[in-house]
Amino acid sequence: MRIGVPKERASGERRVALVPETVDRLVKSGFEVVVETGAGDAALFPDAAYTAATIGDQESVWQSDIVVKVQPPVDAELQHVRAGQVVLGFLSPLDQPAMIEQLASRGATALSMELVPRISRAQKMDALSAMASLGGYKAVLLAAHTLPKLFPLMTTAAGTIKPANVLVLGAGVAGLQAIATAKRLGARVAGYDIRPAVKEEVESLGAGFLELQLETQDAQTEGGYAKELAQEIQQRQPELLRPHIANADVVITTALIPGRPAPLLITEDAVQDMKPGSIVIDMAAPNGGNCAITKPDETVTTEGGGVVLGPTNLPSEMAVQASELYARTLFALIDEFAEDGEFTPNFDDEIFAGACVAHDGEVLNERVKGLLAA
Ligand code: NAI
Repeated sequence: MRIGVPKERASGERRVALVPETVDRLVKSGFEVVVETGAGDAALFPDAAYTAATIGDQESVWQSDIVVKVQPPVDAELQHVRAGQVVLGFLSPLDQPAMIEQLASRGATALSMELVPRISRAQKMDALSAMASLGGYKAVLLAAHTLPKLFPLMTTAAGTIKPANVLVLGAGVAGLQAIATAKRLGARVAGYDIRPAVKEEVESLGAGFLELQLETQDAQTEGGYAKELAQEIQQRQPELLRPHIANADVVITTALIPGRPAPLLITEDAVQDMKPGSIVIDMAAPNGGNCAITKPDETVTTEGGGVVLGPTNLPSEMAVQASELYARTLFALIDEFAEDGEFTPNFDDEIFAGACVAHDGEVLNERVKGLLAA
């Protein structure tokens, strides 16, 4: 079978779905690979590095049996999708249900990397976690770069400087990486999450765990994800966080609830309270933001001099390794269902069934169907 790698067309996207190393592995497994001219350029993988692949134009790439993407296909790409074709990538099914419907109506088998179940066997396919780790790291570097202060305690000839206070709200994959990175840079770090189970992980990184007087014992689903809090707790949470936000030099927010808008943790009043020069990096910006005044991919400065950044694609800023890691997760998924260069759908397998959002003319995912019906 032939695998096609298009050049990503979404604005600002620098990653490429397959890097030369993974192309080599796929070719050794019996696949042919065609890479669109310049697909890897922005991630520093020039056409010449793809020695095991053929380099072709957009049309030839979309004639492949399997097309691997980073971002969901844009309209100009959808028109190339053919019946029986497998389309694999971050498809944002819950944000773009109409696009999933189009993939279904064109007869594609669409697999969404976001929906790969988080079971042990699928760990090597967990693209979401790999990208979240990179994002958490970069968010801290962005904060350190923007903050008009140092992160570490530093003793100089002229005296000692106190470390910066960093508060990380939401201690999932991205948040834990942000905590670890801020610690490595020498800041005084605290982490907070509604899932009480996270306390131990935060403390094992050498950070403090912020405990609020809130009843969140049942805030975790069986799958380990956060649940939406009761209305009353949702309202009290930002109030209780407010003094801690005012005290921080940097707040990194990562709180998400799968399939829901991001919870509001920093109200407009709280952000106005922040010290001049303080920074909020709102990693939840693509999902509506954890801070009331976040604007995706913009810098907002408050009257009090606080600065709120809402980056929406931090992994793309580290396109080299982000592409390498992403490509490995794609390889792992393809390899799981392939033999001798033939990829075979297997709906009896929970990984395949979980990730597949469209097949044989139908949208398969219940949540996507629900959104389409609404
Ligand atoms: P996520 O990106 O969906 O959410 C980030 C964090 O925000 C979570 O820790 C969540 O508890 C927190 N959060 C949500 N609402 C909040 C609120 N109102 N206030 C404060 N914090 C709030 O989560 P992520 O990073 O994808 O991981 C979620 C869970 O999945 C974790 O338990 C993690 O250990 C687990 N996981 C399991 C994997 C596996 O089994 N292979 C791989 C990756 C993660």
